[in-house]
Amino acid sequence: MYLFIRRFLYIALLVSVSTSCQTNPYRQGHELYKINCESCHMEDGSGLAKLIPSLKSSGLFRSTPECLICLIRHGLDKNQLTGQQMPANKRLNDVELANLVNYLRQEYASITIAVTTEEVNACLANCKDEE
Ligand code: HEC
Repeated sequence: MYLFIRRFLYIALLVSVSTSCQTNPYRQGHELYKINCESCHMEDGSGLAKLIPSLKSSGLFRSTPECLICLIRHGLDKNQLTGQQMPANKRLNDVELANLVNYLRQEYASITIAVTTEEVNACLANCKDEE
């Protein structure tokens, strides 16, 4: 009986460890990408022909995270050539922004150094086009 309980607890532990992976920051970042970005930039980040830029070839993920955070929060003005504009996103909070940016940098630039929510906060306060 004791052995049975131990085995049961071990299985319960395994299950809880495997389900907790679903809430890890990378996973959350990916989910946030699907909800907020995928409709334009596509599932694999390839964009849409000349209208929506590909994230795969964007050098922005290699540059400072500040640019990226401001870009996501405030969007981009209408592009002169394509007439397309990237809308601002005020829905994401600091933790979500950090997870999204960390996901993007890992996915598109293989950068694994994580941005903290404190850094996100500091960046947001310094965005050039802060409204
Ligand atoms: C409504 C469509 C739309 C959505 C949603 C959208 N974008 Fe964009 N994105 C654009 C367009 C259009 C541009 C190009 C704008 C320009 O050149 O002025 C762009 C540009 C970018 C760029 C710059 C690429 C480069 O190298 O110049 C990045 C990075 C980016 N988007 C990331 C994101 C992320 C991350 C999200 C989700 C939080 C997102 N976008 C959501 C349409 C969108």
